[in-house]
Amino acid sequence: MAAISKRLLLSDLVSSDKIDQVPSNYIRPISQRPDLQAVSHDLPIPLIDLHDLFGPDRGHVIDQIGRACRDYGFFIVKNHGVPETTIANVMQIAKQYFNLPEEERLKSYSDDPNKTTRLSTSFNIRTEKVANWRDYLRFQCYPVHDYIHEWPTNPGLFRDHVAEYCQSVRGLAVQLIEAISESLGLRKDYITGQLGKHKQATQHMSFNYYPPCPQPDLTYGLPGHTDLNLITILLQDQVPGLQVLRDGEWVAVDPVPNTFIINIGDQVQVMSNGRYKSVLHRAVVNCDQERISIPTFYCPPPDAVMGPAPELVTDDEPAVYRQFAYGDYHEKFWDKGLAKENCLDMFLAT
Ligand code: OGA
Ligand code: NI
Repeated sequence: MAAISKRLLLSDLVSSDKIDQVPSNYIRPISQRPDLQAVSHDLPIPLIDLHDLFGPDRGHVIDQIGRACRDYGFFIVKNHGVPETTIANVMQIAKQYFNLPEEERLKSYSDDPNKTTRLSTSFNIRTEKVANWRDYLRFQCYPVHDYIHEWPTNPGLFRDHVAEYCQSVRGLAVQLIEAISESLGLRKDYITGQLGKHKQATQHMSFNYYPPCPQPDLTYGLPGHTDLNLITILLQDQVPGLQVLRDGEWVAVDPVPNTFIINIGDQVQVMSNGRYKSVLHRAVVNCDQERISIPTFYCPPPDAVMGPAPELVTDDEPAVYRQFAYGDYHEKFWDKGLAKENCLDMFLAT
């Protein structure tokens, strides 16, 4: 077994130290390791064409979204309105970023989860017992002008390309959250109307970098977890790694060019009173290829009061969750780390 790594970032351990074994602090206990053979590669996650979302067939698209949220918690979208060049540019910036010299990247390094722009490794190195095979740059991006001055300036076009991407993806997020609201039989603006005094979601994103791993069956890029927010819009490069739990089986969500993977988070599960499920997913790593994924997290602001929509609470379906401030949920989520898969159980109705 290789010794514990002394480097701050995993990418530098992998590229400079030429390791052929996973350092001991990344190794999961046997019972928690991924069984990489027992993964289905058929693509059962629904692929939804958003082209008709603003035409006469809107109702049909809304139905498809509703069914996907209820039965899978995940769906893939095409014709989503985010230009191909915007997608290609942000992916290129992420690749170039992780190829910068170590000292350049370390300018953004911090292990403080409260920092609004930071480069870190694993998940939360202050609390976790076993590390994850990932480095990540995480940054707030709405409103862009409040945060853009914190973002890296290297690669040179970082701020231009990333700002363009955030703005475009926000348009998609708003359309999706409105469609999800309608699919529950609620007003289109019901969910956004619950988002604190400004009725605006916050938005942050991550550049996830998963280096090649000499022993991918011993560790995770990210272990099974649900996302705590409203919805996540994930862009992945052409290297597989995302897996979703469906009927007790891990299913690979293999890359499809120019699509996004959408998953609902814990807060949509709460607002829908459990009709829609925030589903476990994980990122596994592989021996040969680095992988980059770029999730955008569309989240309630901390003061937003979350709880089941009153119209979805009936005598037959009483409230599953109590009301709480999103800020409290966020705090619990970061305290528990990814050791427990989900924190919804702490917010059940009594
Ligand atoms: C996440 C996540 C999956 C991936 O960042 O929450 O689930 O494929 N990422 O990187
Ligand atoms: Ni996730």
